[in-house]
Amino acid sequence: MPTFPSLIVHGGAGNIPKEEHAGHLNGVRLAAELGWKLLLDGRPALDVVEQVVRLLEDDPTYDAGRGSHLNSAGHIELDALIMDGATLNSGAVAAVQCIGNPISLARLVMDKTRHSLLVGIGAQAFAEKMGFPRLAEENLLVGRELERWKAAQHDLSSDGHGTVGAVARDSAGNIAAATSTGGTLNKLSGRVGDSPLIGSGAYADNLSGGASATGVGESLMKIVISKTACDLMHAGLNAQEAAEKAVELLSSERVKGSGGLITVDSRGNTGFAYNTPCMSRAQVKDGQIVASV
Ligand code: GLY
Repeated sequence: MPTFPSLIVHGGAGNIPKEEHAGHLNGVRLAAELGWKLLLDGRPALDVVEQVVRLLEDDPTYDAGRGSHLNSAGHIELDALIMDGATLNSGAVAAVQCIGNPISLARLVMDKTRHSLLVGIGAQAFAEKMGFPRLAEENLLVGRELERWKAAQHDLSSDGHGTVGAVARDSAGNIAAATSTGGTLNKLSGRVGDSPLIGSGAYADNLSGGASATGVGESLMKIVISKTACDLMHAGLNAQEAAEKAVELLSSERVKGSGGLITVDSRGNTGFAYNTPCMSRAQVKDGQIVASV
C-alpha cells in the first residue's frame, strides 16, 4: 500500500559556534529540499539518503567529506554507513582518505561486495577499483579546520561537530538511514567512531524504524544508540519518544555521553533529540521543510 514519505536530516550535534549557524541551517535545508523532491519523484529511500548525505559531504560547513576535521597526524580520515531497512543489508567504510563521497563508497560496499565494512587501505583500493577519483587532501581541507586543528594542538578541550546523516521512508514504506563523518577533531590516526558501525552510527528496519546518530562516538557506541532507538520504536514508542529515550540513556550517569540522533518510525513519524547545546537538522512537516539548529 503506498504511504506518504518521511524525511529528516542532521548536520551534527555539538557546540556549533553562532557564526556557523546560518551555514548549518542553509545546508540542512537544501539537503532536505533535495531529499523531499526525490521522495516525491518516487525514488527509493536508499537512493534518497545517499544523495542527501552526498550533498552534505560536499558542503564544507560539515565534518564530513569536504570540511572534515583533521586527525592528530594532520590528515583527514572518513567514515560512512548506509543501511537498507527492507533487507537489513548495510555497507560501510572506515578510515578512508582522499575521496569526496564516502557514503557512495559505503553504498558500493553494500551493493557490489559480499561484505559490510571495508577499512583503510582495503577500502582505498576498492574505491580505486570502483573508479572514485583520488583527491589531493587539500581538496577536502578547509581553512577553518586547519585553524581548529592548530588550536587543538595546545587546547585539548576543543571539541568538534558536524557529522551528517539522513533517515527516510519512501512511498513504498521502505526505510533507509545513512551517516557520514570526518570523526572527532584531533583524533588518533586510525581511530574509528560510531558512524560506520551498524547499530551505532545508523540503523534501519522497515519493521521498526530508522535512526542516524551524531556526537562523541565512544559514548554513542556504549549504548548502540541507533539500534536502541529502533528497538524502542519496535516496542511501540513513536519516533520522537524513542529519540528522547535514547538520549536519556546516553545522558545517564553510567554513559555520560554527548550527542543526539534523528529517527523515523514505521508509521512515518519523525523525531530527534540531543543533549548538546545544538544539533542542526531539517525535517519535512506537512510538506514544509523545517530547519533548526
Ligand atoms: N560521531 C562521530 C564520531 O565520533 O566519529
